[in-house]
Amino acid sequence: MIARGSRRFEAAALRKAGASADANCAPEPLLTAENLKLSRGGRTLLEGASFTLDSGKIYALTGHSGAGKSSLLLTLAGFLPYEGRLTGPCAPVKRRRFRKKSAGASSSRLLFQNPQDQFVEDTVRDELLFTLKRRFPGDEKKQKAEAVRLLKEHRLWTWRRYAPFQLSEGQQRRLAVLCLLAENGRLLLCDEPFYAQDLRNEAAIMQELQDAASARGAAVLFTTHDPELAKAYADVLMKMEGERLYAKRLR
Ligand SMILES: Nc1ncnc2c1ncn2[C@@H]1O[C@H](COP(=O)(O)OP(=O)(O)OP(=O)(O)O)[C@@H](O)[C@H]1O
Ligand SMILES: [Mg+2]
Repeated sequence: MIARGSRRFEAAALRKAGASADANCAPEPLLTAENLKLSRGGRTLLEGASFTLDSGKIYALTGHSGAGKSSLLLTLAGFLPYEGRLTGPCAPVKRRRFRKKSAGASSSRLLFQNPQDQFVEDTVRDELLFTLKRRFPGDEKKQKAEAVRLLKEHRLWTWRRYAPFQLSEGQQRRLAVLCLLAENGRLLLCDEPFYAQDLRNEAAIMQELQDAASARGAAVLFTTHDPELAKAYADVLMKMEGERLYAKRLR
């Protein structure tokens, strides 16, 4: 018997809802890495890594502090150089091709480890509307309704007129996750989305990520230092250790 309100209870309920929603959808590879090698500051962080991120799946990435989790996410999002091959509809756009095409060609979205790196507006509400305007262009009513829903559901409504920098660390993280979700990307790369969250907020964030995976076929890759959390929510566990990447499918 799993206690109601516990992480295992929340995770089991989410998986049940997600499984029925995506029962008919075959997973589609969104990004494939072949023989990926990452180096930073003259040190090799990862070598010979091959993996695929499929639509509708949740991936948890663990590893000790300094193992290279953030560096891997930055690489998959196209911010750092790499050796090897990254292919698929959500692979980062190579610089040469990028110049020829319009910006935003890659459909991956990154939640930075430090959410302050991504805030651009003066208030919490405007920060969210900034991304919702791109998701529902021209539909002001829908933009506002979705902003109200997200702010209320994630306990940020009271702070809607505050500057994002006036929020607590956990609140800033929630706002950054909501902005990421509002963008409608297909590969969601989330660097420690659950940092400083209580169990209720953790479950609410996971619900949104799970919805993105099952309802619109997103792949979610999140990092965490909590192996129990990773096991509770992820379909696939990934671990960076000694320049290698290990993966284990859980469900
Ligand atoms: N801007 C940088 N320039 C050079 N080297 C860097 C830079 N940022 C990080 N590194 C190096 O890359 C290594 C991996 O860092 P990274 O931030 O990817 O680790 P992490 O697994 O995300 O750690 P944490 O769990 O603490 O967030 C670090 O050991 C660090 O020395
Ligand atoms: Mg990190």
